[in-house]
Amino acid sequence: MKDIRTRLIEQARLARAMAYAPYSGYEVGAAVAATNGVIYWGCNVENASYGATLCAERVAVFTAVAAGQRSFSAIAVVTPGADPAPPCGMCLQVLSEFCDDLPVYLAAAGSERVIDTSLDVLFPSRFHLDRSL
Ligand code: THU
Repeated sequence: MKDIRTRLIEQARLARAMAYAPYSGYEVGAAVAATNGVIYWGCNVENASYGATLCAERVAVFTAVAAGQRSFSAIAVVTPGADPAPPCGMCLQVLSEFCDDLPVYLAAAGSERVIDTSLDVLFPSRFHLDRSL
């Protein structure tokens, strides 16, 4: 049985094939593992009204949440080119809604390079809403 890191990276590469990115041409795939072991895919979905675009990471997390998941064990992201790229700030904020920390595997479509990092490292100062104020 392959480990979860290997499986997530493989699944994120497959999810990337679903990317709808006619405006930027920048195709991204993501795969997030819920703590029960189920893996959910995401790809970026662009729109002619550019601000309506959703990133691959948020599509993966929102798909999982819509399936009843709120607890995650890791995420993999595959971006174009030879060098892996981190998720954007908005996606990091969305991940931080559900995770205190999370392993993040950053892979590249054009190479076998993978950067193993974490939500804490990428986003040490996340916003939390203080509802007592
Ligand atoms: N994109 C992602 O899917 N994830 C990120 O973390 C950063 C950017 C997408 C959004 C847009 O479709 C394209 O990449 C270029 O910004």
